[in-house]
Amino acid sequence: MDIIASAVQQFIDLAHQAIKERGQFTVALSGGSTPKAIYQTLSQKPKALDWGRVFLFWSDERSVPPDHPDSNYRMAMEHLGKLPILEEHIFRMHAENDIEVNAAAYEHVIKAKTDGIFDLVMLGMGEDGHTASLFPGTEALKITDRLVVPNYIPHLDSWRMTLTFPCINAARTICVYVLGEKKRARLKEVLAGENDFPISYVKNPHWVTDIKL
Ligand code: 6PG
Repeated sequence: MDIIASAVQQFIDLAHQAIKERGQFTVALSGGSTPKAIYQTLSQKPKALDWGRVFLFWSDERSVPPDHPDSNYRMAMEHLGKLPILEEHIFRMHAENDIEVNAAAYEHVIKAKTDGIFDLVMLGMGEDGHTASLFPGTEALKITDRLVVPNYIPHLDSWRMTLTFPCINAARTICVYVLGEKKRARLKEVLAGENDFPISYVKNPHWVTDIKL
């Protein structure tokens, strides 16, 4: 089975289990190239799951409107929007406009719908070791008492909204998708625990990778 097919199967298995045990499946979606391929494959499986019991959230979002090409919401919904997911179960991060107020509101929704515990948090890893929008050296890395925060990224000169480590690490399952040889060196370093990167603070991640170490 190729890596995307097995990641899709893992998503479906986790969803079945959560629905069986708790009646719903709550997932925080990630941006990035591998999740995109996963969403694409899932979108062709309308019968694989009771999609009416699936709740969609996001791990992070760029400060753009939902129809913008950089929007993680737009990217995911281009594919998952083809599935029978209830509109009232889809929670976009509003990372534009008043991002501080919107982050607090998003945290409120997470608490109400998930008790602060996602069944699955999907993450990627950038070549600099960032995950979600938790970039090296940024303020959001220090947060211990919030689930969602705005985070200013100096080198991008832009704001993002992101789940925090306490929120990510409370999840039942955390999958980190790292595909492609260009990430080999960083992944090796992270797994060896030689240096601290933001991704190093994710607890018990399931690494989904095609990199042979
Ligand atoms: C984003 C992501 C970000 C991403 C990594 C890896 O919105 O940009 O959430 O954290 O997952 O940068 O992205 P790739 O898998 O595309 O390299």
